[in-house]
Amino acid sequence: MLRAFSKKEISTVRRTWDIVSPNVDHATELFYQNLFEAHPQFKPLFKSEERHFDEAISFLVDGIDDLPSVLPYVSKLAIRHVHYGVKEADYLVVGPVLMKTFRDVLGDQFTREDEKIWLRVYAVLSRVMISYAYPKWWTRIIRWIALLAVRRKSEVQLN
Ligand code: HEM
Repeated sequence: MLRAFSKKEISTVRRTWDIVSPNVDHATELFYQNLFEAHPQFKPLFKSEERHFDEAISFLVDGIDDLPSVLPYVSKLAIRHVHYGVKEADYLVVGPVLMKTFRDVLGDQFTREDEKIWLRVYAVLSRVMISYAYPKWWTRIIRWIALLAVRRKSEVQLN
């Protein structure tokens, strides 16, 4: 559910974004092209074709090394997504589109290992967002146990 990301996961995510972000307009264009080509049903959800790619990845890159501190924001972000019309199953669909976009932009610089790491990171964040947006009684318990575990691990890393 929720866990602290490893140093390798953090550095892979940041390295990818360091290469993509200087040319973010091109990556954004490709992301929407890939998304709407494969899933045209999402088109009406996006009011401006600018906000998602850049803001979502910047958010992930900034918060990846301190999940507990971004959780209050993540919970609100998750609820906003419900209002945007996003459904639980949509989280499964966007991950592969994001990976295709990175492959298109980065070519050989985006290895299969990088992709695996990104998918893991995206899956963790998606699960957290899903647990806030579409809560079930048992996800609340898992969330609290996981949050305690992450806090404890952060404390150990700091000492
Ligand atoms: C880990 C997963 C995701 C993250 C971190 C994320 C993050 C964000 C952020 C930061 C924004 C900017 C607006 C705001 O702060 O409310 C946003 C907007 C949005 N997101 Fe996501 N998102 C995720 C998954 C998804 C998925 C699966 C969909 C489904 C298609 C989606 C659809 C949207 C839409 C429709 C908007 C509004 C954009 C607009 O008004 O044009 N997001 N997202």
